[in-house]
Amino acid sequence: MKFFVDTADTKEIADLADTGLLDGVTTNPSLIAKSGRNFLEVVKEICALTDGPVSAEVVAPDFDGMLREAEIVRKLAPNVCVKLPLTMDGLKACKRLTNEGTMVNVTLCFSANQALLAAKAGATFISPFVGRHDDTGQDGMDLIEDIRLIYDNYDFTTQILVASIRHPIHILQSARIGADVITAPPAVLKGLAKHPLTDKGLELFLADWAKTGQTIA
Ligand code: E4P
Repeated sequence: MKFFVDTADTKEIADLADTGLLDGVTTNPSLIAKSGRNFLEVVKEICALTDGPVSAEVVAPDFDGMLREAEIVRKLAPNVCVKLPLTMDGLKACKRLTNEGTMVNVTLCFSANQALLAAKAGATFISPFVGRHDDTGQDGMDLIEDIRLIYDNYDFTTQILVASIRHPIHILQSARIGADVITAPPAVLKGLAKHPLTDKGLELFLADWAKTGQTIA
């Protein structure tokens, strides 16, 4: 399973890229606004921090506008992945861009039928939002199971990118289901390495080691 980080904070991205565990980055207009930076500048900078796909979302609501903006965005770097909303215009733009060899992430997916359409449109990634689904009182992970089943039934190559992840259980369940990618905020990704028994065990080992008076040199 690939790990993407969901942020436009270049310091956080650089820190995670340094671990060698980061496979890509996703951004959205809200994350760009939070960064306080110029959209094109920050996307370009992020693309230089990772070799993996960097999702950059266009904001035009119509097909022609989406293509116009995608043209600017995809020129930024070879690893740019154009992010399009799951609307009829977005799907039409997806078909056009993927036919031209551009990576596309279809975002704001909340149903398995929407995911089916995105696969038919040739999307590189489909982004079902599990956390926002949970917020409405449904189980977002049920959606991931359905999409996995449908994509496998027809050998669709669109990668399931589980988005709107709020906690480590979402990531565990994504891995159990066999999702292709997860994207999560930096704190959630870093939190995966944490366990109180690891911290306690390490403390005990180091205390015992100190008693030996040895050094490894
Ligand atoms: C995905 O690409 C989106 O940027 C993101 O995961 C949305 O997450 P949120 O629901 O926490 O805003």
